[in-house]
Order: sequence, then C-alpha cells, then structure tokens
Amino acid sequence: MNAPLKHTADATTAEEGLAAENMHAPVDSKTATEVAMRNTLLTPRFYTTDFDEMDAIDVTPVRKDWDELIAQMKADPNKGHFRKNEDWDHIDWDGMEPELRAEFIDFLISSCTAEFSGCVLYKEMKRRGSNSDITTLFQLMARDEARHAGFINDALREAGIAVNLGFLTQKKKYTYFRPKFIYYATYLSEKIGYARYITIYRHLEKHPEHRFHPIFKWFKEWCNDEFSHGEAFALLMKTDPKLTSGRNVWWIKFFLTAVYGTMFVRDHQRPAFHAALGVDPEEYAQSVFEKTSALSEQVFPITLDIDHPAWLPTLRKLQAANEQIAEGDRQGGLGGRLKRLAGSAKAAAAFARLYAIPAKRHEVPVQTRLEPCY
Ligand SMILES: [Fe+2]
Ligand SMILES: [Fe+2]
Repeated sequence: MNAPLKHTADATTAEEGLAAENMHAPVDSKTATEVAMRNTLLTPRFYTTDFDEMDAIDVTPVRKDWDELIAQMKADPNKGHFRKNEDWDHIDWDGMEPELRAEFIDFLISSCTAEFSGCVLYKEMKRRGSNSDITTLFQLMARDEARHAGFINDALREAGIAVNLGFLTQKKKYTYFRPKFIYYATYLSEKIGYARYITIYRHLEKHPEHRFHPIFKWFKEWCNDEFSHGEAFALLMKTDPKLTSGRNVWWIKFFLTAVYGTMFVRDHQRPAFHAALGVDPEEYAQSVFEKTSALSEQVFPITLDIDHPAWLPTLRKLQAANEQIAEGDRQGGLGGRLKRLAGSAKAAAAFARLYAIPAKRHEVPVQTRLEPCY
C-alpha cells in the first residue's frame, strides 16, 4: 500500500485528497465540527441525488466544448497550488479582535463545509456512475474541492481548529435533490462562488492594507476552478433544452432568488469580517449578483432584476426577519418561539415579494462556453 499523501494540494484524485494528512483533525475541534453539522436554511448542506439518472446523460450535443473543458481540467494547472508557501504571512490569531476572529472562523468553517459538500457529492457521482464522460468530470471536480477544503482546514488549524470531515461525511444529514435541482443549485453555487472570490480578490488587489489573512491571495486560482465547475454544469444543462425552458424557468427563478437571498442574509451576519475587508456587504452583494447574472445568461433564459426598486428594500426586510428569528432563538421560551414564528412569516413574505419581481428575459446564446473575465 502507498503511504498516505502528505497534502491535499498534490492530490490527483478525490480519494488521495481525502486520505491526505491535512484532511484529518489533529486537534479537538468539537465546536467547529458542530458548526459544520448545523442544518438550517442558511448553512451549507450535503446533497444526494438520483445518480442513475445523472449517469444516463449523453453529452453528444455539446461534445466539442465538453472535450475541451475536460482536457483543460485534466491539464490541472492548479496542482500543488493549494498549500502554504512563502506568500503565506504569519497570522496573530490571539491578537485578532475577538469579533473579527469569531466571524472569520465562522466564514472559514462554512466555506470548508461548502467545499467539502461539493467534494462528497461529486465523489459519490463518480463512484456510482458508469458513463465515462460523467465519471471523469465528477472525479476531476471532486479532486479540486478536496484541495479547497484541505487548504481551508490548514488555515483553521493555525487557529487551533479543524473540521472533522470524516465525521461530517458519516453523520451530517444529506438532503435529496432531483438531478435537475442539483444542476440549478450547483451551477449557481459554482458561478456565485467564482463571482464572490474574484470580487474580493480584485478589491484586495487595490486595497492590500485590508488583506488581513493570506488565504485571500489564493482566491484567483481558486475561483478559476469554480469557474470551470460552473462551465461543466452549464454544458450538462445544454444537453437537454427542456431543463432551461417551459415550467423549469420558474424553478430557475426560484433557485436564483434563493441563492442570492441566502448570500445577502449570510454576509450581513458577518459585519466585522466585511469591515476588516473594507467591503460594504450590500455593495458587495450587488456586485456579485451582477457578475453572476451576466455569467448565467450563458444558459438561463432569465436573470433577476436586481435594479428593480423593490429588490434591495425587500432583501433588507429578509435580512431583518432573519435577525428576528435569530433573536427569538437566543431568547428561548414562549416569547422566543413567538418571535421566531413572526420572523419566519416575515421572511416568507419577503421571499415571495422577491420572487414576484418580474425577471428579465433574453435569448440564450448558441455558444455556451465562457472564460473567466472579471
Ligand atoms: Fe471549491
Ligand atoms: Fe467548485
């Protein structure tokens, strides 16, 4: 048997990545793992799906673009990249302002969970499938997500924390999504992930004084991985025009609204983190939505009208409702439960209002493939 790989950055498969030494928790991080275990509407989830249906996809209609994308991913320009090197500055975790420290750790744990959630889903698809086009793609994507999760775990370890990913795989609840919902949700999360990382990266290029942690220096290559993953899902959806037409457009609108709304609310939960980055969460959100919408025109026939007069005010209401829910939870007892209930009703109303804003329609281009452009 081969000795276990030392670091996820060198992994050429997800299996190697998962066995790498930096994937395992050498320290007791019960709290971190508990945070990662949380399943709420706002926390990253683990997904499972109908793997046979996904295995039956025929990529013939997009063959040329498909082969190019797979060749690009196989060339693996980021092999060895996701590890600490001389650019990794020392961080004084104990000297960090407590509020920032808590929010940043929460950010890292939830990012690590999200990366790992992708790894688990993609690896499972690879394991269950027999269609070599599909299994090759999912193997490559699982490899990337294992590296991303392992790298975040490195950053957390310096703060004396690590998420027990093995425990998570076994114990975290899996949410079932039909394949088409996996396409919409995963495509969007890859593309919005790209937009989030590149927006922060470009901002810190201009304002390096706000780069309070070295991990942000890695965001450019990182977001290019997420970009390719998004491209793969765009091509998968292109194989079947039904997925992006008719009644399914209502589902697409639902996922766009849910993904954008979740990002807005979650980012507002981390005021100290955004202040340290020198970023206004609302401006940041709009800039990320703008990029994600422009990209998603490659495959979705609609985009949300984020300049509509009701858009931002309703997002703020959604955010306030969410705060009320959190307050109710903290308060506990009957009063807390009532507060939570009222908050949930307000959140549902705000979501319905966002969903009711007419979407913008456009023609989907014949040519799907895009290159990172921001
Ligand atoms: Fe990733
Ligand atoms: Fe990804």
